[in-house]
Amino acid sequence: MLKRSVGLSVGLLILSAGLVSATHYKVGRPKDPVSSYRAWKKVNDKPIYMEPFVAGSCIGPPWWDGAKDNPHVPKYFTVYVNKIGEKAMMGKSAASFPVGSMVVKEKFNKNDLKRPELLTVMTKRAKGFDPQNGDWEYMVYNGSLSTKSDSNKKACQSCHSSQKDDDFVYRNYVEDYIRTQPKSLDWFKAGRIRAGG
Ligand code: HEC
Repeated sequence: MLKRSVGLSVGLLILSAGLVSATHYKVGRPKDPVSSYRAWKKVNDKPIYMEPFVAGSCIGPPWWDGAKDNPHVPKYFTVYVNKIGEKAMMGKSAASFPVGSMVVKEKFNKNDLKRPELLTVMTKRAKGFDPQNGDWEYMVYNGSLSTKSDSNKKACQSCHSSQKDDDFVYRNYVEDYIRTQPKSLDWFKAGRIRAGG
């Protein structure tokens, strides 16, 4: 009788240990780091007007709803950078982002400057990931972060390669950086009309 109840409690112990580790596994599963981007450093305090040409090219795959959006509604953007990339992003001179840096650009429709319709994301991968493109990975997320795709990455790279000397990052929204830039970036400044004036 005694033997039996010991056996039973050992069995229960094993069972509960199993349950605990199952719970731990679920909680500890690696999450997509992009999901916490709004806790990162916000680089421009207010949404900035997006050049129509850029807005029209900075899009998700054709099967997304956002892609059917009216291109004549003005678009705005806000940029966030994670801790690893903060120093490079905010610096006054040409940037060199460390491995693990992540930059998120939210794209808004003028009629809703709270909920982004799209996110474009750059992640600095390990040396050798894509040396020609600065080892950056390019990804697009829908605004609610439920879908992501890299199917447009060739287009992303074709524009961003013009920024090769600044580690493929534009940074035309970083106040201190803009002040150090030559006149050639004037058209960017002209486009920097903030939402609400
Ligand atoms: C037509 C050129 C063009 C294309 C195509 C393009 N971008 Fe950009 N991207 C820009 C410009 C210009 C900026 C600076 C912000 C602005 O003016 O809108 C920018 C900014 C960004 C930023 C903020 C970091 C930075 O460079 O300053 C990210 C992240 C980004 N783009 C990701 C992407 C991804 C992902 C794609 C592909 C889906 C993409 N871009 C396609 C022109 C482009």
